[in-house]
Amino acid sequence: SFEIDLARSAMSLTVPAGRTILEVLRENGVDMPSSCEQGACGTCRVAVIEGEITHQDVYLSPGEKAEGKSIMTCVSRAASGRLILDI
Ligand code: FES
Repeated sequence: SFEIDLARSAMSLTVPAGRTILEVLRENGVDMPSSCEQGACGTCRVAVIEGEITHQDVYLSPGEKAEGKSIMTCVSRAASGRLILDI
């Protein structure tokens, strides 16, 4: 599991193994758009303020993935303990 801090809503949530960031956000009342839920369309994109990302999408370019400033919340995860998201 890993933690997500929501910078603009002052919430801290745990994303367990087997659940996605998108699912955990919605379960906690954060209204998030999505479409494909397979990492392909970009609808669920969220800006990342801090933290290492394990990208599992096919939407971001290699350069964007290396830059580490946004995440597809339907498939991608934290590489380490915590991500700070700009939501
Ligand atoms: Fe399509 Fe996440 S919903 S990339």
